[in-house]
Amino acid sequence: MKVLVIGSGGREHALAWKAAQSDRVTEVLVAPGNAGTAREPGVRNVPLDPMDFPALMAFVRDEGVDLTLVGPEAPLVAGIVDAFEAEGLPCFGPRAAAAQLEGSKAFTKAFLARHGIPTAAYAVFEVLGEAEAYVRAQGAPIVIKADGLAAGKGVVVAETEGDALAALRAMLGSDAPAGSRVVIEEFMAGEEASFIVMADGEDFLPFPTSQDHKRRFDGDEGPNTGGMGAYSPAPVVTAEVEARVLDRIVRPTLRGLLQDGISYRGFLYVGLMIDAAGNPRVVEFNCRFGDPEAQPVLSRVRSDLTVLCEAALAGRLGEMVIDEDPDWTVGVVVAMESYPGAYPKGEPIDGLDRVQGAKVFHAGTRLGDSGAVETDGGRVLCVVGKAPDFQGAREKAYAAIKGVSFPSLAYRTDIGHRAVSP
Ligand code: AMP
Ligand code: GLY
Repeated sequence: MKVLVIGSGGREHALAWKAAQSDRVTEVLVAPGNAGTAREPGVRNVPLDPMDFPALMAFVRDEGVDLTLVGPEAPLVAGIVDAFEAEGLPCFGPRAAAAQLEGSKAFTKAFLARHGIPTAAYAVFEVLGEAEAYVRAQGAPIVIKADGLAAGKGVVVAETEGDALAALRAMLGSDAPAGSRVVIEEFMAGEEASFIVMADGEDFLPFPTSQDHKRRFDGDEGPNTGGMGAYSPAPVVTAEVEARVLDRIVRPTLRGLLQDGISYRGFLYVGLMIDAAGNPRVVEFNCRFGDPEAQPVLSRVRSDLTVLCEAALAGRLGEMVIDEDPDWTVGVVVAMESYPGAYPKGEPIDGLDRVQGAKVFHAGTRLGDSGAVETDGGRVLCVVGKAPDFQGAREKAYAAIKGVSFPSLAYRTDIGHRAVSP
């Protein structure tokens, strides 16, 4: 069979690499992919825009693609699955109505409240003066979120009332686009974890647990990013915590969506905050696999991903299991030094062919005119080490990074620190 993966980041490299391992798969196509997918055995890039649904569907028909996997949220929120379904083309991901769980924080907060699913208390505002009065009444710390897709950058965890008011002015002030909305949330203390499942509307299967590192610098300092590294499993998600996540969050979410007339089929990413007593609450939902979580998590999945996705499309996930590799994985993101701020592109990357003992997933990379690999984004690579214990996995990832170089290379040196000292 032929599989098409839509997207160009590290998550898509991991999805394509995983799909290509299947005995049933003759070729994996990636639209548009990156230098890593271009060089991956059994994988070929096709220069198609993830938002150009007619061109993607024409390609799927001409090429005889049997299964399409959608990586990023933007095409899902814009209805790529609805478009493919209308033409009878198998495409794994949530429809637009279901993807609102990521696309609109206001929708999600109302959904969670309506179905009694634990999350931070909140209020939604469109008028600056009313939002300011609410913040003054609540005090700090407090969390301010722009509504709509903001690629992880629309969230301000304000330590002081002044920071919160400044964030409100930026999001709702006179320079903000008409119709802007903010969600103001109670600050939740605790430890975060990523809990990713695949769902077929009714049944679901949890992937191995993981933990991301959203802040740019060591010690969880600095601005929020898309994620600077992730590891699996996440020890904070004990068997007891996992049972609570399933009973209090995942099952009620899928059931609540069905009650609201929405069938959720696809990857569902639950961002959790787990308090000191082990009680989980929802920080956010994403309608897709995590990035960089996909790189270490899929590295621990032994099952054939294409079999699981086809079973989900047929509503047969209840018959399946995910076979987990007991080894640990640690994925360290190699980024541009100035990320998440502006950064140059086109820096040549040296040493990729000498890497041993770890898997290098590409994110923001491209092939230059001479065929050499160059940087093409803020997060450039994710290097995954795998071993029977956490320390071994971490050592392999960091040892492999030492051999790779480009002028603006930067990375966190403490990925997985909570696995050692929570
Ligand atoms: P989000 O885009 O909603 O995932 O928010 C980005 C990050 O902000 C999360 O990963 C958390 O670290 C933090 N955050 C968001 N909401 C809250 C909250 N209510 N309490 C504490 N931290 C939060
Ligand atoms: N790593 C966080 C995310 O994928 O949203």
